[in-house]
Amino acid sequence: MSTSTDNDRLLSIDTCNMYAEHIGIGGVTAEHCQALAGELATIHNDIAKELGHGLDSEYACLSLHDTMQDQLDEISKVAEAIRHFQDILVIGIGGSSLGCKAIRHALKPERRPENPVSLRFVENIDPFLLEELFQELNPKNTALICISKSGDTIETVAQYQILRQWLIKHLGKKQASKQQWLVTDPEQGWLHECARRDNITALAVPRKVGGRYSVLSAVGLLPLRVSGVDIQELLQGAADNAARCQSPVSEENPALEMAALYYLLDVECDKHLSIMMPYVNRLRLFVDWYCQLWAESLGKNTSYKNGVTAAGTLPVRAMGAVDQHSQLQMYLESRKNKMFSFIELTQWQNDIPLPQNDFDHSFFPYLKDKSLVDVIAAEFCATRQVITDTGHPNLTVSLPELSAYTLGQLIDLYQRTTIYTGLLYGINPQDQPSVEKGKKLAIECLNNKYDRSGTKT
Ligand code: PA5
Repeated sequence: MSTSTDNDRLLSIDTCNMYAEHIGIGGVTAEHCQALAGELATIHNDIAKELGHGLDSEYACLSLHDTMQDQLDEISKVAEAIRHFQDILVIGIGGSSLGCKAIRHALKPERRPENPVSLRFVENIDPFLLEELFQELNPKNTALICISKSGDTIETVAQYQILRQWLIKHLGKKQASKQQWLVTDPEQGWLHECARRDNITALAVPRKVGGRYSVLSAVGLLPLRVSGVDIQELLQGAADNAARCQSPVSEENPALEMAALYYLLDVECDKHLSIMMPYVNRLRLFVDWYCQLWAESLGKNTSYKNGVTAAGTLPVRAMGAVDQHSQLQMYLESRKNKMFSFIELTQWQNDIPLPQNDFDHSFFPYLKDKSLVDVIAAEFCATRQVITDTGHPNLTVSLPELSAYTLGQLIDLYQRTTIYTGLLYGINPQDQPSVEKGKKLAIECLNNKYDRSGTKT
């Protein structure tokens, strides 16, 4: 039910509180698990067979730690060229931004003399943000990395066109081209054509790797390498997590067990909200990445297996300890339709002791000789306990350190879990048909086919 290993840098995953044996009626039973064992093995074995095709595999995202090794020299060479600039704007949205943002935020590579670059993400359409950038940045010292797998996502295209024009206006076309890099489909799309037409260096997004599964390709690796993240360690973390997920038996494969639990809690136990609550502030954006991965992969209504017509649990963002003062009341007294995934850090690289004088001590005797890490650990322990006592299923992923290595593991763990879960629902976890519908409608709106009230003209 919980995994422990010899490598003390691996994540540990405690799933005990997902089971009825520990939390009572709201949890998964041994019978549920037995009934699913055969299907889990089939799903795992099908994926494993496919993975033999490397970048041509349907599940190419799960072997990027291996297949990207050949491209690391090229990525590093390009990154070194970009690092000559002081400010780097990374333009992209959804899967072309969230993973990189999450890792960058978690690791916050310092701006030091040897690492002087600053990375900023241009994601949501926002005239305020672009105006601020124009006021603040010097075009001579600014580079653009535009990332879009399709090469035609409107939000990205629009902002890239504005920023490209800004460079051209100040530096001329030739120099502007030397300050831009693109990451896109290697064969088609507007961005791919821009690279050819304007002689801009472009790195490829592997064709079989979907946007939200692409952080371990050039999509994430290039900007992360630019900002000083150890991308080899990131891939090593993913590789080591993949290595512990080789078994078709859920007790020996943490991603398979997590998928089974998340799935069973939804379809057998009516837990339709999946709340992720890290007790590590720097994982705030990791939750955004997870929410996109989970929602866009699993929110599908095409499955009729076992009578399930709508798949997927709603992923919900939370943050410990702040949401104890915001959401916890609802978690404890509202409907029992929730499950929780906690993330904690067991070894903080830094800590700050609480300086108490006698006066402070008379009010807070329990804070004597304590530190900030002691306080956050106590907050986590208490919250998990009340959630468990209330009968909510919950699991805990413990990170032994906050590093590229553990982030790589976490990324692989959740990508793998999401794909297994999607296949359990009988849906395709790698498409997003309704998002495509929205993209088409936005184009129709821009073509003036609708007025502002949404009426067809
Ligand atoms: O996961 C996905 O496919 C999406 O979230 C995409 O990443 C997002 O729509 C951006 O697409 P693109 O990279 O083609 O600009």
